[in-house]
Amino acid sequence: MRNPSNFVVPWMNDVKPYPVDDVNLAWDHPEFRRMFLNENPYPPSEAVLRAIFDAAKNGNRYPGDGPKLRVEIAKKYQLDPDNVFMGNGSSEIIEMVMRVFVAPGDEVIIPNPTFSLFESRATIIGGKVIKVDQREDLQYDTEAILNAITPRTKVIIICSPNNPTGDFIPDEDLIRILKNGIPTLVDEAYLEYHPEHHSKAPLIRDYQNAIISHTFSKAFGLAGIRIGFCLADKEVIRYFKKMQMPWSVSLMAIAAASAAWNDGDVLNQKTRDTNREMEYIYQELSKIDKVKPYYSYGNYILIDVTATGFDPQGVVDSLLKRKVMIKTVKGFKDRKFIRISIGTDEENALCVESLKQILKTRNGL
Ligand SMILES: Cc1ncc(COP(=O)(O)O)c(C=O)c1O
Repeated sequence: MRNPSNFVVPWMNDVKPYPVDDVNLAWDHPEFRRMFLNENPYPPSEAVLRAIFDAAKNGNRYPGDGPKLRVEIAKKYQLDPDNVFMGNGSSEIIEMVMRVFVAPGDEVIIPNPTFSLFESRATIIGGKVIKVDQREDLQYDTEAILNAITPRTKVIIICSPNNPTGDFIPDEDLIRILKNGIPTLVDEAYLEYHPEHHSKAPLIRDYQNAIISHTFSKAFGLAGIRIGFCLADKEVIRYFKKMQMPWSVSLMAIAAASAAWNDGDVLNQKTRDTNREMEYIYQELSKIDKVKPYYSYGNYILIDVTATGFDPQGVVDSLLKRKVMIKTVKGFKDRKFIRISIGTDEENALCVESLKQILKTRNGL
């Protein structure tokens, strides 16, 4: 093959690979504070480690699709185990949604800003992404989403709470969207941080097009282990099963997730600590002149630095010099944002104090 670009499916040439340089840099520098990937700063519990070790003893055997774990998950949501589908992280749920419903040229409605993987997995299969800006106050613009629907719309993405804006879509808005009958992925990756906000999972009983995804990567803190799940109509799940590679979720991932699922105390402790730290960061950043943090129900906080005149990338680079990794959020009107993932107490204090110093050193204008 002389020139691969003549042979690959044409739309692939325009797609950028999902960036991994930052995460590789972080692994090369264990002294860096990783506050850029919305990871959980607390390592897995002893019970989870034991479960992984025990499962690895059967590492010569292929895994099933997690029937026992699916029973437990179904019980929590008062659904049937066949309403539960396990994925290699919730990223694989996103992948299934795109690959099952979207053909080249079909449209996928995605809020802006949101988690960037939605766009990259839609475009890699030739989908046309229709971005719908959030309102100025960073809430969902449901009217604009409804207006963006065309006969070619095959998927609508709703992330709730949304990464990076941190807030939920109101129930009545979600229902207006679901009433269109278009497959709608409701990504609840961060919901476990606020269990007082109920999952939209019960909606799958009334809306066959509702697909509700969850992950063990965030509040449960198993991002490196790779496991997530979705709750959906059984027929939809049958399509996901046709599409998914067999053995996609490892024995160790299923064992780790089962142990974490059954350890409510550990989950509560982790979420309590993160929510307390969210409050601290929000309060402290609110004190900085011209800086606007957006209170968040996830484990990250979006900060509008437009009024400071600082270039967000410059702020990120200055923090990196202090060994703190955060990220910018680009592409929402002409506003300038950074996003901080909540870390340990010590990491958060360092990040906040560094930001105060950086943003006070000079006016960015
Ligand atoms: C909204 C959202 N969904 C899904 C994911 C991916 O999570 P997972 O590790 O389960 O693939 C992320 C990761 O940051 C996310 O922010």
